[in-house]
Formats: sequence, C-alpha cells, structure tokens
Amino acid sequence: MENFEQRQHGERAILVSVCVQLLDDLDAEEFRLLAQSAGAEILEHVSVQRQKPDPKFFIGSGKVEEIAELVRALDAELVIFDHSLSPAQERNLEKVLKCRVIDRTGLILDIFALRARTHEGKLQVELAQLKHLSTRLIRGFTGNLEQQKGGIGLRGPGESQLETDRRLIRVRITQLKDKLIKVQQTRLQGRAARQKAAIPTISLVGYTNAGKSTLFNILAKSDVYAADQLFATLDPTLRRLEWDGIGTVVLADTVGFVRNLQHDLVESFKATLEETLEATLLLHVVDSSSPNMPEQIEAVESVLKEIGADAPILHVYNKIDLSGDTAKITYKAPELPDRVYLSAHSGQGLDLLSQAVQQCLMGQLQQFDLVLKPAYGKLRTQLYTLNVIQSEHYDDEGDLHLSVCIAPHKLEQLIKQAHLPLDEIVGAKSFLFHRVLEEFESKQE
Ligand code: GTP
Repeated sequence: MENFEQRQHGERAILVSVCVQLLDDLDAEEFRLLAQSAGAEILEHVSVQRQKPDPKFFIGSGKVEEIAELVRALDAELVIFDHSLSPAQERNLEKVLKCRVIDRTGLILDIFALRARTHEGKLQVELAQLKHLSTRLIRGFTGNLEQQKGGIGLRGPGESQLETDRRLIRVRITQLKDKLIKVQQTRLQGRAARQKAAIPTISLVGYTNAGKSTLFNILAKSDVYAADQLFATLDPTLRRLEWDGIGTVVLADTVGFVRNLQHDLVESFKATLEETLEATLLLHVVDSSSPNMPEQIEAVESVLKEIGADAPILHVYNKIDLSGDTAKITYKAPELPDRVYLSAHSGQGLDLLSQAVQQCLMGQLQQFDLVLKPAYGKLRTQLYTLNVIQSEHYDDEGDLHLSVCIAPHKLEQLIKQAHLPLDEIVGAKSFLFHRVLEEFESKQE
C-alpha cells in the first residue's frame, strides 16, 4: 500500500467514452475502475456515439460544447477520454473545455507511475511518460500547470520534467535508456545463470484483478502486495521455490493485462513481459466469476501472441468460490492438462494445480539415447551438472552411451554451446530430423 499515494480528495473528473453502438456496460465499468484506480472522483460518464473520430476534437463540436457546460456546472478539474487522443486533439479540447484533458494512455501511465516498485519499473514508467508528454508540451490549457502538479496524468517520476523544455526531456530520455540497458543487463545475467541451471520458470499471467498476486503469495508463501486495485503488480516478482515432483522452479508474477493496451505501452513494459517470453510454462490466471471472462481470456492471449510468447499455457480458473464451479482439472489430451479450477482464496483445488503443473512440465521432457565420442566429454559434464543422466556406460571403442531425460530445446542449446556438430551425435539425430521437418513444414505454410 505504501506506494499508493491516494489523494486526500479525488480529482473531480468527467469521463468520456466514444462508441459506434451503445456503450458496452463492461467496457464502461472497466474504464471507471481505471479512473478510480488513478484516484479520480467520477462526476459524470458521458457516452458519445460516432462512426469515426473527428480530426479536430475526436468528438463533434456540439458534444464538446455540451461537455464544456458540464465542466462548468459540476466544477470538474479533469476530463478523461477512454481513447488515444492526438496531441492536437488534446490541445483543442483543453481550449474549449477550459480544464485538463487526458487520454487512455495518459491514464494508464499514471496508474503505472503510482504502482511502479522496482528500479527498472520506475525507469520504464518515467521513460514512457516522458515520451508521451514530450509531444504534448505545448498545451492548450497551460493556465496554471504549476498549481495542478500532482494531478492525474501529471504524477510520477516524470512530473518534474513537465516544466522543462523538449531539449532537456530528450537528454533525460537518453539517460534513462542508458540506465535501463544497465539494469536489464544485470537482470539478463541472473536469467543466464537460471538457464544454465535449467531451472524451469513458471510465469503467472492474466487479466488485471484475476488473482495472480493472491495465487503467487500462496505458492511462494510470500507477502507480495495483493489488493483489489487494478495493476497492483507492475514489476516482475520472482521467487525460487520447490515444486512437488519437479524440484526447484522460478515463479514469476507479471503485470495485469487490460484490453486496448496501446502498442507503445506494450513496448515500454516489454521487460515486465520478457519474463513471459522465457517461461517454461505460463499459468494464465482467469477470474472465473467475471461475466466478461471470454473477452478477458481473448485479450490476454492476443497480447501474448503479439509479443511472441510461445510457452505452453495452463489455464487457472480462479475464484471458484464465487463462480460455483467445482475444483477439477480438464484435459486437452491424455496427460496434457488444459484447465485447473481452483480458489486462491479458500485453497480449494490448489493440490490439483500442483499436479497439473507437474504433468505439464514433465510432458516437455523427452528421453534421448545418445552416443558420444570420447572427445565430447564436455557435453557429458554439462548433462551431469543438470542431473538429467539416467544411465551411462562406455562401449569397447570408448564411446559413451547415455540415456538422458531433457527438454529437446535444452539439448540443442547445450550441443550448440559446446560447438559440437548436432548430426554427429548419435541419438540426437532423430530430434534433429524432427526439427528440420518442422522448419520445412513451417516454410511451406
Ligand atoms: P493486478 O495486479 O491488478 O493484475 O491483479 P491480480 O491479478 O494480481 O489480482 P489480485 O491477486 O490482486 O486479486 C484481485 C482481487 O481478487 C483481490 O481482492 C483478491 O483478494 C481477490 N481474489 C483473488 N483470488 C480470489 C479467489 O479465489 N476468490 C475470491 N473470492 N477472491 C479472490
């Protein structure tokens, strides 16, 4: 909670949503939750129907006048649009509405700024805020920016830069990028060490509020901040833990997804999602009690696809205490679990999760019978270090026969790292053949 500097009184805001047909209740509710997460006191939610955005104001000039009237009547300090506005549209709107206007990107960045915890998270938020603000420096309603310092969309590490000019902002952006590279390098080294030890990484992903942090806490028996606020987790939080039947695994908690997260935001929080890219298994946590569940699943999976996350996914249907489902595992193929129904709150079904994860991770391991020439001893040492050798013996020619149980991609990586010719390692050939065939087939598509 300590990072969530809730304002004494909420900033008095009018919300504006534009839609082709009637505003979907769930979209409207999500937008209100986002605004509240940023500490807004919602005075009115205006829904505007339009086929396409107006270039000057995004909405029609008649509607702008109507909202200007509302701003005066309700004494609003801020108007928040549930869309991306161009800097020019934001300026034009501020001139007529005579109060600050922020768009969805500004709103989400503000929430990120409130929640950023780690050094890297803070740097990323500042960078994203500066990039967003640098195009918006000449504001229509500059009136008394100084007085408004600390308001929604103006908070966070980027705030002090608002009063500086574009040149200073560019310098700061360069500095931030350099710092981020350094922080990321340190993180990558940690990741390299993990990969060397072949520790499987399990990443929790899911729509915001699905219960990732709650589940993470229980699994890691830690006290990661879990709260009924959007984006309670911004930075990847990692824990090493012992998983029944698997051994040591790394568990990673990630930022919650929302629909319509603009591409540049996805980009700026890539490091958070990078954990997802390298995961051995993704636990997609779903709020099974949400009426909006199918859309939320779709939103998460389309972002995962967009960033190229291709690890196998196990769906965790959380909150069965609310949805009324029973704790169970469903399978997409024998031995290949698809969903686990559980409640992170009541603990029902947690044993099933343990079992399903075991099945998923074991399914990725394959048995290989390798024959190594005496000169390839280094590979044997690495396989030994990974504890994947099940049996071994030398034949009369001094070749080593090994039976190993390992993930195919890991075996390929080790062979490449040792600079050995893949096709000369008897036993790895069958795997090589499959890989070449897969590449061939994907080129044909
Ligand atoms: P973000 O950080 O916003 O992405 O959310 P999150 O997915 O990490 O969700 P979090 O763990 O913060 O949980 C959101 C809310 O759901 C909290 O109020 C939790 O107490 C509640 N919650 C989580 N799991 C369960 C559950 O199994 N049953 C019920 N009834 N509530 C749950």
